[in-house]
Amino acid sequence: MIVLDRATLKDWGRLLVMRNDPDTVANSFSSKPVTVVEHMRWLRSVIDSETLLFVARDTERGVHVGTGRIDLVSPTPKVAKPARQKSESGRAVTLGTDAAPASAVAGSSYSEAQLSITVDSGQRGHGYGTEIVAALVKAVDGVGEYGGKTWEPLATKITAAVKPTNYASLRAFAACGFLPVKCEDDRIELELTR
Ligand SMILES: CC(C)(COP(=O)(O)OP(=O)(O)OC[C@H]1O[C@@H](n2cnc3c(N)ncnc32)[C@H](O)[C@@H]1OP(=O)(O)O)[C@@H](O)C(=O)NCCC(=O)NCCS
Repeated sequence: MIVLDRATLKDWGRLLVMRNDPDTVANSFSSKPVTVVEHMRWLRSVIDSETLLFVARDTERGVHVGTGRIDLVSPTPKVAKPARQKSESGRAVTLGTDAAPASAVAGSSYSEAQLSITVDSGQRGHGYGTEIVAALVKAVDGVGEYGGKTWEPLATKITAAVKPTNYASLRAFAACGFLPVKCEDDRIELELTR
């Protein structure tokens, strides 16, 4: 089972290694590695922002397997803030595979949630990428727990952007119900259809 923990500054090392992995660099739209200084500046700004950055952990094997991110567009909350503001204690997002599917998404606070994923280079090809996408969708839908509490759905529209040559990522998103909605030479935009 995959559990998404909110990333903290303590995760800087594993996040840096995943960010500068050659395949991750090749598949990123910036297509270049980052320095430690750039990485720390980025991580601090993300932790202080509306973005939800997670580290994915396989609870059975007890290892970290990747990372997932939810960028929230039009962050003008009408009712609810992102999950972390509803939690005062723990930081774990526990999204069990038996969690009920989201039904109502009324009350969404953001116009769009953009997902991105990375699996540790030694853990690829075992289904973790697909599991992380599914867990991120549950997080957007407000299905699961966060520090023992639930939260309102964050957005109805869930998207991702992937390079056309990144077959593993395209297949992971496809397996979770995403369809291509805009195809350019260097970029495929995907949207979750329900
Ligand atoms: C893309 C990535 C997250 C996929 O993670 P993963 O754990 O390897 O993916 P999964 O094991 O869940 O496999 C997803 C699908 O891709 C397929 N796949 C896995 N590796 C593949 C490869 N090298 N080439 C083609 N397909 C591949 C799997 O068979 C599976 O397809 P299926 O569901 O139709 O059987 C991972 O490769 C990665 O971190 N790459 C570098 C960073 C990156 O590209 N991030 C995404 C940016 S949009």
